[in-house]
Parts: sequence; structure tokens; C-alpha cells
Amino acid sequence: MKKYVLDLTVSAAEHINDKYVLLKLTHNEPLPQMLPGQFVEVRVDGSSTTFLRRPISINFVDYQANELWLLVAAIGDGTRALARLKAGDTLNCMLPLGNSFTIPENKNAKVLLVGGGVGVAPLLNFGKVLNDNGIRPIFLLGARSAKDILLIDEFKKYGEVCVTTEDGTEGEKGFVTNHSVLQRIRFDQISTCGPKPMMVAVARYAHSEGIFCEASLENKMACGVGACLCCVEGTKKGNLCVCKEGPVFNVNDLSWQI
Ligand code: FES
Repeated sequence: MKKYVLDLTVSAAEHINDKYVLLKLTHNEPLPQMLPGQFVEVRVDGSSTTFLRRPISINFVDYQANELWLLVAAIGDGTRALARLKAGDTLNCMLPLGNSFTIPENKNAKVLLVGGGVGVAPLLNFGKVLNDNGIRPIFLLGARSAKDILLIDEFKKYGEVCVTTEDGTEGEKGFVTNHSVLQRIRFDQISTCGPKPMMVAVARYAHSEGIFCEASLENKMACGVGACLCCVEGTKKGNLCVCKEGPVFNVNDLSWQI
């Protein structure tokens, strides 16, 4: 897929809470096509300690409004600088990068999308694309507490939303793999993105049930195009660059203990 380096304009910077900002970006030309699961490498201006671009998942693309959404967790100098952006600012983005989630051919397929933390971001766009393909997924979102559940009203537009919180302040108490939806529905596909322990637990469940499962990895990245090798993941097919061969992998190909 052709990659672009574009100066996008911030149309809105919505502060969801003290840690997360939703950046809505637009361009004076139509945005290029982007696949669900792909990501963007953004250049961080205004941080004296951040020299490398930062990988951010594509949260949502609205081609009609010509808008790209990036959900940013402000956890380091670079992402804190991104969180300071305001409407009218410019953000230089290289996109679209990486591979994509699998869209089942069978329109009756039962698809579960499991996200945790900022890892929920790419699942919104994937859920929208599944809807466009006639499939309404179920979202299973896990978090520590109710305040950490992000964009729930957006997710509800594209499927049933199930929630677990570790403290029980929203949804079912516990971890995503304890949620009752796993007893209620026999899924054909599970796609997951979030903290590694969560994804490993989801992969283990899927493997034990013989369900096709893919995970979007969040390894540290620099170049984003397979040149620096800093994102390498050991897999059963050898060492692969998450930025180029991923970020989405069939969990059975990973060297995880599942
Ligand atoms: Fe440089 Fe993947 S980030 S090779």
C-alpha cells in the first residue's frame, strides 16, 4: 500500500480525562484509504527529548468528514506533547502503516473484539469496517475502573459492548477472560489489542477453544517501515518486524506460552 507523509490539521483535541486525548485530524485533500488495524507514525514537534516518530493506532476514519481520529495516551514526553495540541495546529503523519485485522468472509461470523487500555483504539475502526461488511461484532472492553473505559458511546454504535473492570465499578468485576459473554456465545473469531498479559490470556482462551484469534502488538517502534529492527518480535516464522509484518498476528504464530 502506498504510504504518505502528510501535514494534517487538528480539527479538535478532545480531552477524555487527565490521561487520554482524542485528536481529530483533517486534510485539505481526501485522506488516503486506511485498513483497520493499521497505524500512523506521528512526528512530535515541541518536545526537546523526542526525536523519533511515535506509532499511534488508527482509531477511526470518517471519509465523509475527511477526518482521522487518533487516541493518545499521554504517558511520556512525546505523547504529552501530542496531548498539548489544539485545534488549528499541524501534525505531520506518515500513513498508513502495517497490516490489518482479518475481515471474515462469512457474514454470519460471530466476531469478538477484546481491548484493554489504549489498545481499544484500533477496535473502533475495525468495528465500523465490520459493520460496513455486514457483520456486527461484540466488543469486550477491560479496564481497571469505570473511568478508564474509553469511547463507550462510540463503540455502542457498531455492536454490543461488554465491560469488565478490576474494581467492579462498571460491567462485570474481573478480567476480560472471566466475562460471561464467553459462556453465552460461541465465537468464530477473536481480535484483541491491549496490554500483553491480557492478550496472552485471550489467546490462551481462543487456543483452548480452537477459535481463530489475532492480536495487535504494541512493541516499541522507531522507523515504522522495517528499517531499524527495534520492533522485532520472535515468532514461529522467525524474527519479524511488528511495524511491517504486523502489528496484527495470528496468535498461533507467536512464541507466546498459550
Ligand atoms: Fe523500525 Fe519496525 S520500527 S523496523
